[in-house]
Amino acid sequence: MQTFASRTMGTVHKDHHSLAAMLGALKMVIARGPQEGTEEFFRILRAMLFYVREFSEQVHYPRESDLYFPLVMEALPNASVSVQRNEQSHVNAVYELGMLQRQLSAWQQYGASQRQAFETAAVDLCDRYMAHIELEEADLAALLTELVDDDAQGPERDPSLVHAGLLPTGSQAETAASFAIDPEQEFDRLYIDITHRLTRFVTPPSGSKPLPHLGG
Ligand SMILES: [Fe+2]
Ligand SMILES: [Fe+2]
Repeated sequence: MQTFASRTMGTVHKDHHSLAAMLGALKMVIARGPQEGTEEFFRILRAMLFYVREFSEQVHYPRESDLYFPLVMEALPNASVSVQRNEQSHVNAVYELGMLQRQLSAWQQYGASQRQAFETAAVDLCDRYMAHIELEEADLAALLTELVDDDAQGPERDPSLVHAGLLPTGSQAETAASFAIDPEQEFDRLYIDITHRLTRFVTPPSGSKPLPHLGG
């Protein structure tokens, strides 16, 4: 049976995977530029920034602050500085992502003069967010080594953990919560929707492919 600690670490790692993929895709879309699909370009960027900001603020950061960082602090006493640094980084990231959303609107509304400011800030933020994830993954690896044989159980009956996907299946709390709207499912749907739109955006429609040369 999975322990509370291993489930928490697994979920944090999965969050990082989703966020890193979205940040990488964001940089790719920015590098590609609006080209001919300007409306869709802005629509995708807005959706990506919304996902990164809201998933971080509503799901990932609370999960780290409430569940994961206490594990780190307990198992790795020297990690307090890095935990404080990470907490501050969360506050900064939410603020900066909000600024970035406004800069994107300025570009769309006021034109190309606003483009460079957005692109520079967006790439810089993506790089710093990735660096933040890499630092946390290093802590995660150290914690995993420390707790590899630990089977201590966490607060299994806390209903809030159902939303974090951390309760064992079949619990009463999970059954009750299964009738409620799960915000994480909403973010999963948004993630899949962005993936599909991104695929369409980077794949030229079949009608625009050059016709094969028929000779003659
Ligand atoms: Fe974090
Ligand atoms: Fe994180």
